[in-house]
Amino acid sequence: GPAPLIDPYQRAISYLRVSVTDRCDFRCVYCMAENMTFLPKADVLSLEELARLCNVFVDLGVRKLRLTGGEPLVRRNIMWLVRELGKRLDGGGLDELTVTTNGSQLAKLADQLVDAGVRRVNVSIDTLDPEKFQAITRWGKLDKVIEGLDAAERAGLAIKINAVALKGVNDGELGDMLQWCGDRGYDMTVIEVMPMGDIGGEDRVEQYLPLSMVRSRLAERFTLTDIPYKTGGPARYVRVEETGGRLGFITPLTHNFCESCNRVRLTCTGTLYMCLGQDDAADLRAPLRASDDDAVLEAAVREAIGRKPKGHDFVIDRRHRQPAVARHMSVTGG
Ligand code: GTP
Ligand code: 5AD
Ligand code: SF4
Repeated sequence: GPAPLIDPYQRAISYLRVSVTDRCDFRCVYCMAENMTFLPKADVLSLEELARLCNVFVDLGVRKLRLTGGEPLVRRNIMWLVRELGKRLDGGGLDELTVTTNGSQLAKLADQLVDAGVRRVNVSIDTLDPEKFQAITRWGKLDKVIEGLDAAERAGLAIKINAVALKGVNDGELGDMLQWCGDRGYDMTVIEVMPMGDIGGEDRVEQYLPLSMVRSRLAERFTLTDIPYKTGGPARYVRVEETGGRLGFITPLTHNFCESCNRVRLTCTGTLYMCLGQDDAADLRAPLRASDDDAVLEAAVREAIGRKPKGHDFVIDRRHRQPAVARHMSVTGG
C-alpha cells in the first residue's frame, strides 16, 4: 500500500477526528456562547464528500475514525455516513469507528450505530444533577441523555463518560460520578478545560482545574492504580480498584501529550486542522471539488501532514484570559 502518514516529528497519523457539523442541540457554557454563529450551510460538505475524504485517509493508513461535532448525531442523515464508513471495518483498513456525542440522540440511534459497526461511544456528561446539567448545557435534558445511555447499553455499546472538570461547578461531584460510572460498567475520563473560542462572559480562568487536584481528591476515596491501557486517544488511565472500572485523565494544560500525538481533525467544511490548539490548517474542499482523482487529495493530505506543528500552546492563567485559538471546540470537535 501507500507510505504511511508521518509528520515532521516522526509521529504516525493513524487517527482522524471528523467534526461532521458545528451545530449542536446543547450550548455548554465552556464550549459555546449562547447565541453562536454557525458555518453557512453552503460551505458544509455533503455526506458523500465527507465519506470520500474519510476514505482517502483510511487509504493513507488511518485506522481509527471518530465522528464529533458540534453534536454529530444531529446532522441530517448522519447514519448514512456511519454505515458508509463502517464498510471499512473488518479488513477494510479501519480498526475502529466511533462517536463522541452529547447523548441526546442515542435513544433513537444506538441500535443503528451498532448495526453500522460502532462498538463504543464517548458521551459527554459533566454532572448527574439535573438542574446543574441544565445550567451547564443550557439546553440539555439529563433524563433524555440517561435514556440514551440505557439504549446504548441495551444495544451492546461500550460507554465512556467524558466530564470536563470545572472548579466550583462539578469538582465536588466527580467521586460520585466515578462510582456511578463504575456501577453501570462505564469508563470515565476527566478533561482539563481548554481555552478555545469566545464563550461570551464565562471565565475559564475561574473554571479551570488542574487534574492533579482532581486525582488527589479522588484518591482519598478510591484506590487508583496506573495501568498501561491505551485507546489511541490522549488520556492516561488508572484502574479504580473499588469499582473495577477505568478512569482516564486528559491534561492538555498540565501534562502535555503532544509528543505522542497521532491525530488530525477534519471539519465539516473540509478544513484539516493539524493541531487542536493551532490555527494552521489546510483546505481540502478545493482539491476535493476540483478533481475526482483521489491522488490529488492524497497529495494535499500529505502536504498538510508535512506541516503538523509540534504541539499546542494552551495556557490558562490570569495573564492569559484570551482564548488560545479563536475557533470553538465545536468546529474541530476536540
Ligand atoms: P478515546 O478513543 O476513547 O481515547 O477518545 P478520545 O479521548 O480520543 O476522544 P474524545 O472525543 O472522547 O475526546 C475527549 C477529550 O480529549 C476532548 O475534550 C478532546 O478535546 C480531547 N482531545 C482529544 N484529542 C486531543 C488532542 O489531540 N489535543 C488536545 N489538546 N485535546 C484532545
Ligand atoms: N475544553 C475542554 N473540553 C471541552 N469540550 C468542549 N469544549 C471544551 C473545552 N473548551 C469537551 C466536551 C466533550 C468533548 C468532545 O470536548 O465536553 O466531552
Ligand atoms: Fe454541544 Fe458538546 Fe459543545 Fe456541549 S460540549 S455545546 S454538547 S458540542
